[in-house]
Amino acid sequence: MIKVQNISKTYQDVDRQVTVFKDLSFSLSAGQTVALMGQSGSGKSTLLHLLGGFDTVSSGDIIVNNANITTMNDSQLSLFRRHRLGMIFQQYNIIPSLTALDNITFVRRLNGLPALDEDTEQLIDVLGLRDRLDHYPAQLSGGEQQRVATARALAAKPSLILADEPTGNLDEETAAHVMELLIKAVELNGVTLLLVTHSQTTANYLQSTWRLKKGVLHC
Ligand SMILES: Nc1ncnc2c1ncn2[C@@H]1O[C@H](COP(=O)(O)OP(=O)(O)O)[C@@H](O)[C@H]1O
Ligand SMILES: [Mg+2]
Repeated sequence: MIKVQNISKTYQDVDRQVTVFKDLSFSLSAGQTVALMGQSGSGKSTLLHLLGGFDTVSSGDIIVNNANITTMNDSQLSLFRRHRLGMIFQQYNIIPSLTALDNITFVRRLNGLPALDEDTEQLIDVLGLRDRLDHYPAQLSGGEQQRVATARALAAKPSLILADEPTGNLDEETAAHVMELLIKAVELNGVTLLLVTHSQTTANYLQSTWRLKKGVLHC
């Protein structure tokens, strides 16, 4: 379902160039779950941002369900994200002016679905957010914001989930709940999951582990 062909990414600042990786190729099939590990600064977040169409490749192609996202315009990209993608950002990126509940149900409502269904209610309970639904992000702890970001990513039932250190700010028990929810979504809906983590315990929930090292992806 995802085919990445010879992608390179170079950031060009005023006075220096950073080449994060060159000529990366891999594919991910429906239902495949991969932990992406690698040192800080190795390009894990950059790779997830490219796959979600939040950043642009310097060269190469990213094909998701037969559509090349590197050639999509902004409105095609937003449709792709709305209908297919659940993104959990390292910095959460939940919307400050919306309550936790409105953040979680935002994409469902955009897609014309009822804000809440049984599955979304269950997400809220398992993630321990029931008592926080009318709070704004600034009133939530880092771990709570991270769980809102996870609920938001899962609520619209995406076919691809890109999760950037989704357990990074959680205690062990809460991290286990998050991982169980992600794996359940994969099993029920054949979701493809690429998840960045530094935790071996978290990586153990996934089928395989890939490592990004000095611009090379070891699968
Ligand atoms: N917007 C940017 N401009 C310039 N360099 C960047 C930018 N974003 C990331 N980088 C650089 O790209 C490299 C990879 O960063 P990142 O993908 O965040 O790594 P990781 O998530 O593995 O810690 C780092 O050297 C970082 O400094
Ligand atoms: Mg990162």
